Amino acid sequence: MSALIRFGVSIAKDLLEKFDAVISDQEYPTRSKAIEDLMRKAVDEHKLTDDKTVSVGSIDIIYDHHRRELLNKLTDIQHDFQETILSTQHIHLDHHNCFEIIVVKGEKGKIEKLASLIKSEKGVKHSQLRLAPAPQ
Ligand code: NI
Repeated sequence: MSALIRFGVSIAKDLLEKFDAVISDQEYPTRSKAIEDLMRKAVDEHKLTDDKTVSVGSIDIIYDHHRRELLNKLTDIQHDFQETILSTQHIHLDHHNCFEIIVVKGEKGKIEKLASLIKSEKGVKHSQLRLAPAPQ
């Protein structure tokens, strides 16, 4: 772990009061921990502006189980991204719907390409990409 340092910050009183109320709702033990999380998030978001940033995450999709051609298309797409996909979990959600969690690692731009190909298929009802820079 990196060394801890203290620094002073000047901030509007009413904003600080609102911030303290928010972090209390979110169960942060200290203001320092909440600020640390916000700073880390800003650093991560900045890293993710670069398509080359190695990232980890998941593509979560819900799709129509009865579209047989869709199953084949989704499988074909995933075979084209073998080096990006770490694992896929398939859940038979109900009679009509499948839920799939595709765990990914690779360059952000490539992962986004994969997510776009998947979400644009007819019969995909929900698609969400979650990404974080790979820890170093
Ligand atoms: Ni299924």
